[in-house]
Amino acid sequence: MEELKQRIREQGKIRGTNEILKVDSFLNHQMDVGFLTQIGREFRRRFQDCQVDRILTIEASGIGIACLAALAFDNIPVVFAKKNKTKNIAGDVSISQVESFTQSKRPYNIFVSKEFLHPGEKVLLIDDFLANGSALSALIDIAGQAGCEVVGAGIVIEKAFQPGGERIRGQGVRVESLARIQAMSEEAGVVFA
Ligand code: G4P
Repeated sequence: MEELKQRIREQGKIRGTNEILKVDSFLNHQMDVGFLTQIGREFRRRFQDCQVDRILTIEASGIGIACLAALAFDNIPVVFAKKNKTKNIAGDVSISQVESFTQSKRPYNIFVSKEFLHPGEKVLLIDDFLANGSALSALIDIAGQAGCEVVGAGIVIEKAFQPGGERIRGQGVRVESLARIQAMSEEAGVVFA
């Protein structure tokens, strides 16, 4: 998606070499809702050959994008996995562990109430970043536990130099990333795949 690449080039802040890209001006802190609406429409366009009954995402940054994608899919429901099991999510829940590929982050569980995912439903996964793929793997697991069919994953920014994309595609899941970053550094900027 050309406009996304342009925004990343102009507004993205790179930390280190092949480490972190900050896109807080439109995606992860301040949100440009008009632009996110275009992103939602682009996900619809890419998955127009699929029936999609429901969108599944993970808090926090996935939620806004998933909502705008849901509108583009004629207002289908959005379910987001919660990172904390609060009293409000009592009853039957699907649980999956988000692994950690870095020493600095511990594994954590995510939760979805079984009330909101039903066997046989076709589910589209949406998230902002695909890096190591641990969050996406956990969402695939949750969808599987509920007996849903994952029609694919819509990702805004894939860090193609990290193993998540290859790993998830290797499992046979269709991944559509709107921008794929091959490499990035403070000196050279972003190189798209
Ligand atoms: P993974 O889900 O692909 O395995 O990502 P990883 O464990 O490597 O990263 C953990 C968190 O950091 C995830 O957010 C992921 O979206 C985010 N992330 C990874 N790389 C980048 C990056 O270069 N820039 C930005 N801005 N975020 C990155 P999360 O834990 O789901 O947090 P939230 O922001 O959705 O609450």
